Formats: sequence, C-alpha cells, structure tokens
Amino acid sequence: MNYSIKYKEHLNWLHEHHIELELSWTKVAIDDHFKNKRALNIFTIEKKTLGMILGHFLYEDQKSIEYEILHLAVLNKHRGKGVGFLLLSELEKQLRSIKNSVKIYLEVSAENKFAIKLYEKLGYKAYNERKNYYRSKSINAPHTQDAILFAKSLNVIK
Ligand SMILES: CC(C)(COP(=O)(O)OP(=O)(O)OC[C@H]1O[C@@H](n2cnc3c(N)ncnc32)[C@H](O)[C@@H]1OP(=O)(O)O)[C@@H](O)C(=O)NCCC(=O)NCCS
Repeated sequence: MNYSIKYKEHLNWLHEHHIELELSWTKVAIDDHFKNKRALNIFTIEKKTLGMILGHFLYEDQKSIEYEILHLAVLNKHRGKGVGFLLLSELEKQLRSIKNSVKIYLEVSAENKFAIKLYEKLGYKAYNERKNYYRSKSINAPHTQDAILFAKSLNVIK
C-alpha cells in the first residue's frame, strides 16, 4: 500500500467519489480544503485510490502539534479489510515524524459503529459528546444523531 497526495488527481477523485465516501462538503469546501496550507491529507493507493483522511493542524508550538481528522473514508467495496486502520496508522507515523508530542482530535456519529470500533482499537478515547449534533436533511425522515468526540495523544512528553 502506498500513501501520497497528488494534488490534481486526488482532488478529482474526491469530487468523483464524495457521495460514496459520505463526505457532506460542497464542491467549494473540498477545493478550499485542498488549498489550505494547514491541511494534511493522506490517500491510500493500491493500483487505484481506495480511501483517504482529510484533516488539518489546529495548533502548533515548539514542542507539540494538535491535528484534527475532518473525515476518514474508504470506498464501499474496500471496507472491512483494514484500509481504515492502515490510513490512521500512516497518519500517526507522519505526525510523529513532525513533532515529539502530538494530539489528534476527531468527532464521529454515535451510530457509526464501524468507525468507533476502529478508533477504539487504535487507542482513541472518547472525551465528550454533543447531543443531537448531526441533523438529517430529509424532510420525510427527520432524525438526529449524537456526536462523540475522541482524542489520542502520541509521544507524550512528561
Ligand atoms: C469508517 C471506515 C472509514 C472504516 O474503514 P475500514 O477500512 O472499513 O476499516 P477497517 O477495516 O480498518 O476496520 C474497521 C473495523 O470495523 C469492521 N468493519 C468496517 N467496515 C465493515 C463493513 N462494511 N462490514 C463489516 N465489518 C466492517 C472491520 O472488520 C474492523 O473491525 P475488526 O478490527 O474487529 O475487524 C469506513 O467504514 C467508511 O469509509 N465509512 C464511511 C465514512 C465514515 O463513516 N467515516 C467516519 C467518519 S469519522
């Protein structure tokens, strides 16, 4: 498995697959994120691109960085085969290589069992929740979901 970001190629891939990847951003928001100098995005490639992490740096000082995962997703037919695990492992490797002390934050729907299982397996800890945070856009099926906030610290310096 290779990891990289080829600006134009991955931007096009994201526009093409954003519904399958359950990314609810507008086209403009995707383009803006790619232009953001504080973004760090990772794509897995095995002949074709299979999945990605979109995220950005929240904070940086001399000793530490804080990074937020904005979206993690794998193409439908490649789910449940460890691609999400490899993406998160690669993200941690890249962040560790930048600074000694790293904290990663993310939020996820309380109903997203697969994602929660994956984050917990990698040692992410829930530290807060937001009730009724996600709202369905469907008028016929109004539905809200709670968000759970997770964080993980890498290489904590005492
Ligand atoms: C969440 C997501 C990224 C996980 O990626 P993945 O490559 O499927 O994850 P992995 O295979 O590394 O591991 C996920 C765990 O859930 C299980 N799992 C994930 N998807 C599964 C599926 N479709 N069917 C069965 N099991 C599944 C895996 O078996 C694994 O558990 P295990 O370690 O006990 O075997 C993927 O399901 C996805 O793209 N979902 C849609 C977008 C999304 O919800 N993103 C999260 C936003 S925060």
